[in-house]
Amino acid sequence: MSAATRPPIVLTGVKPTGNPHIGNLLGAIRPALELAEAPGSRSLFFIADYHALTGTHDRALLQSMTLEVAATWLAFGLDPSRTVFYRQSDVPEIFELAWVLSCFCPKGWMNKAHAYKAQVADNLDKGVEDTDAGIGMGLYTYPLLMAADILLFDTDLVPVGRDQVQHVEIARDIAQRINSTYGGEVLRLPSALVRDNTAVVPGIDGRKMSKSYGNTLPLFGSSKKLKKTIGRIVTDSTPPEAPKDPDSSAVFQIYKAIARPDQVAALQARYAAGISWGEAKMELFAVMEAIVGGPRERYEALMADPARIEAQLQEGATRARALARPVLSRVRDAIGINR
Ligand code: ADP
Ligand code: TRP
Repeated sequence: MSAATRPPIVLTGVKPTGNPHIGNLLGAIRPALELAEAPGSRSLFFIADYHALTGTHDRALLQSMTLEVAATWLAFGLDPSRTVFYRQSDVPEIFELAWVLSCFCPKGWMNKAHAYKAQVADNLDKGVEDTDAGIGMGLYTYPLLMAADILLFDTDLVPVGRDQVQHVEIARDIAQRINSTYGGEVLRLPSALVRDNTAVVPGIDGRKMSKSYGNTLPLFGSSKKLKKTIGRIVTDSTPPEAPKDPDSSAVFQIYKAIARPDQVAALQARYAAGISWGEAKMELFAVMEAIVGGPRERYEALMADPARIEAQLQEGATRARALARPVLSRVRDAIGINR
């Protein structure tokens, strides 16, 4: 099938950082699964464990986070028979391509990459004299490995959050350099697919929900714990029967991000009429349970049987490598490293 008529190849990676939360579900997991379920779609999702090594040097933690992320995606309905689902470190072809790409990537492009720049800015802020202090080469060349993840599979579309667009552009620019050096389409040019239409879910303190702020509603954990965390959401001291302004309430804003529109409208009316914070929080707990209850059971069953997760990842890696080999061979042919 020609590139113009075949369905696009959709690929995305997830860094295994701990405790996925409701913001991750709505902002990343669900939209990616919807793309994968679209009729005729060809999708690859993987766990970027070697990317996580740039920040985590705790062996047990890296292992457990990788399993947790895999179990999370499977629990929310990823179908490994449709989507090629694998762990980055199981596909050695990625790392060979990363080297080739590094030979076509001007160093200046890495200087401009935002993860590196943010660390330099942090050093400057703290008055650290060596602005590169604490920055490993892994972090510095992070976008190169990501470019290899993408280009190795003839990817057309890369669903990502806005912060990752720069990385997809770097991948595209490197591919273009290689294509213009050798002529023809050695590597396919990918495009970012930005999830701009997903709402930002606020955290229990009203700021953006983020692991780094410690303000999340985690997807998994007991329902008792979830109720307790919801109980901690910051509220004002309006008396129970007084009308409440939904727009200034984190309880309502989180509810709004996750409930159906009819549920949101109904609860909004109750806020106007006067609802106690306790009741408002119970409503939020009920919608959260409706979303995470089923997946929680599947997640727990998966986590109790890590060998099953491992077997699925291995099968995915076998499929991924079969797709990767012809692309890598095309690159080797083009650059003159033949076998
Ligand atoms: P965190 O900020 O908790 O560390 P990540 O940076 O690992 O989360 O985010 C992974 C993906 O989840 C992001 O690309 C983004 O699309 C999505 N995401 C994270 N937090 C939120 C949020 N509060 N609301 C909506 N989407 C979010
Ligand atoms: N850098 C991405 C993130 O932090 C994760 C990632 C690694 C990725 N490789 C990728 C995303 C390839 C898309 C495509 O979220």
